[in-house]
Amino acid sequence: MTDNDVEFRTVIEPFRIHSVEPLRMTTTAYRRRQAAAVDYNLFQLHADDVLIDLLTDSGTGAMSRDQWAAIQHGDESYAGSPSYFVFRDAVQALFPYRHVIPTHQGRAAERILFQVLGGPGKVVPSNTHFDTTRANVEYTGAEAVDLVIDEGHDPRAEHPFKGNMDIARLERLLAERGEDVPVVMMTITNNSGGGQPVSLENLRAVADVCRAAGKPLFLDACRFAENAWFIKQREPGQAERGIPEIIRDIAACADGMTMSAKKDSMGNIGGWLALDDDDLAQRCRTLLILTEGFPTYGGLAGRDLEALAQGLKETVSEDYLRYRIRSTAYLADALERLGIPCIRPAGGHAVYIDAAALLPHIPPLHFPGQALAVALYETGGVRSCEIGSVMFGRHPDGSEQPAAMELVRLAIPRRTYTQSHIDYVIEVAERVVAQTADLTGYRIIEEPPTLRHFTARFAPIR
Ligand code: F0G
Repeated sequence: MTDNDVEFRTVIEPFRIHSVEPLRMTTTAYRRRQAAAVDYNLFQLHADDVLIDLLTDSGTGAMSRDQWAAIQHGDESYAGSPSYFVFRDAVQALFPYRHVIPTHQGRAAERILFQVLGGPGKVVPSNTHFDTTRANVEYTGAEAVDLVIDEGHDPRAEHPFKGNMDIARLERLLAERGEDVPVVMMTITNNSGGGQPVSLENLRAVADVCRAAGKPLFLDACRFAENAWFIKQREPGQAERGIPEIIRDIAACADGMTMSAKKDSMGNIGGWLALDDDDLAQRCRTLLILTEGFPTYGGLAGRDLEALAQGLKETVSEDYLRYRIRSTAYLADALERLGIPCIRPAGGHAVYIDAAALLPHIPPLHFPGQALAVALYETGGVRSCEIGSVMFGRHPDGSEQPAAMELVRLAIPRRTYTQSHIDYVIEVAERVVAQTADLTGYRIIEEPPTLRHFTARFAPIR
C-alpha cells in the first residue's frame, strides 16, 4: 500500500494489543506532592507515578509477539552462540559491514570506537554529536565538533533534511585540521537537533569528501529506519524504493556504524559496532573483551540478540514506519494548533516544544523548559524531558550560561501508546497552555559537578 491508496484520515496503529501493562491513575494533588517530594526533578520520580512516559524513546518500546517468541530461541553459549549468527545476519542484511560487534548499548560502542580512534589533539566532526557520543569523544581528550547546516539551528525553518551536514564547513575543517581528524560521524536522525533526518544526497556528498580526504565515515545510526522513511517520503527519486534498499544505500556511504539497538531495532537493551576495517575491528574487539564480553555476545544475553534480530525485520515495515512518523506529526500538529511552538517539521521519534517562546516571561536561567515539564507532569502525569539550560547551562569552568534553545522533548516510545493516549497528552498540554501566565521559574538548590539534569534539586521561584 502506498500513501496514495490510503482512503482514511486516521492512520491506525498497525497492531492490536496482546498483553497489557496497567497504568496507575493519579490525581493532580497527588502528583503535586510527588513532584515536590523529588524536588521537581522528573528523573527522580517513581515511574509508577507517571501516567504517560515521554521521557525517552530509548528501550521503552513494546516488543512484538515474534520478538518474545524469538527470546525463547536464545542460546546462552559463552562463545559461538547460534543467536550471535542470527543477530549478525540480521544486521548485515541492512548494514553489510564485515565485522558486527555486539555491545550492551550504544554508548558502549561509542566508548570502544573513540578509545581506539580518539585522544588529545584529535577532532571528530559530526552533523551533531549526541550527548553520549560527545562525552565519549571528549573523555579521550579529543574535541567534538558539530557541523549541521544553518537550518538545523532554526526551530522554525521548514527544511526537509535539517540533519544535513554543512559540506563546506566539513571541507574547511578537513583542509585546516585534516591530520587531526581520525573519523567523521553522521547522526541519523539528528536527535539533538530535533530528530531531523539526513538526505541520501547529503550522505553521499559527505562520503565523497571523506574519501577524498582519506577519512573513514561512521554512522551513529540509532534511528536509521525513521531516517530511511523520511528519505522515501521527501527525497526526489526515492518514493518507489524499498526501505531496506534505502538503508543499504545509507550503509554504503559509510565505513562503519555505532548503534543503540534500544531505538530502531525495537529492543529494550542492546547495541553494536559494525565496520569493515579488519585491523580496527581487531583493536575494538580487544577492548570489548575487557569490559563488555566475548565478541559473540558483547554485553548481551543470547536471548537479547534474538529479539534484536527479529526487531530489525519489523522496523523496516512500511506500515509500521508510516504509522510511526504520522503519529509523531499528529502530536506536533495538534500542539501547533493550540499555539504551542514546536521545532518544525516534526522529527521522527519526538516532538520538541520551544519553551522559551511559550513562556517568554521566564528567563532562561529560571529554566522555562523545566517549568513546562513540571507543569505537564503535575497537570496530567505526562513525563517529558527538559533539553535546555538545566541540561547544558553549567560549563566545565563552573560558569552558568543559557543554552542555545530551551526545549522540552516529548519522545514517543515505539508501539507503546495509542492515539487516545496521545489525545490525552494534547488535552493536558491545552490545560497547561491556559495557565502559562501563572507558571513560574525554578532555581537549583543543589547540583552535582557534571550531568546535573539527572540529579539536581529544584525549588520554584514564587
Ligand atoms: N546516539 C544517539 C543519537 C542517541 O539518541 C543515543 C541515546 C545514543 C547514541 C546512546 O545510546 O542510550 O543506547 O547508550 N539516546 C537516548 C535518548 C538516551 O533519550 O535520546 P544508548
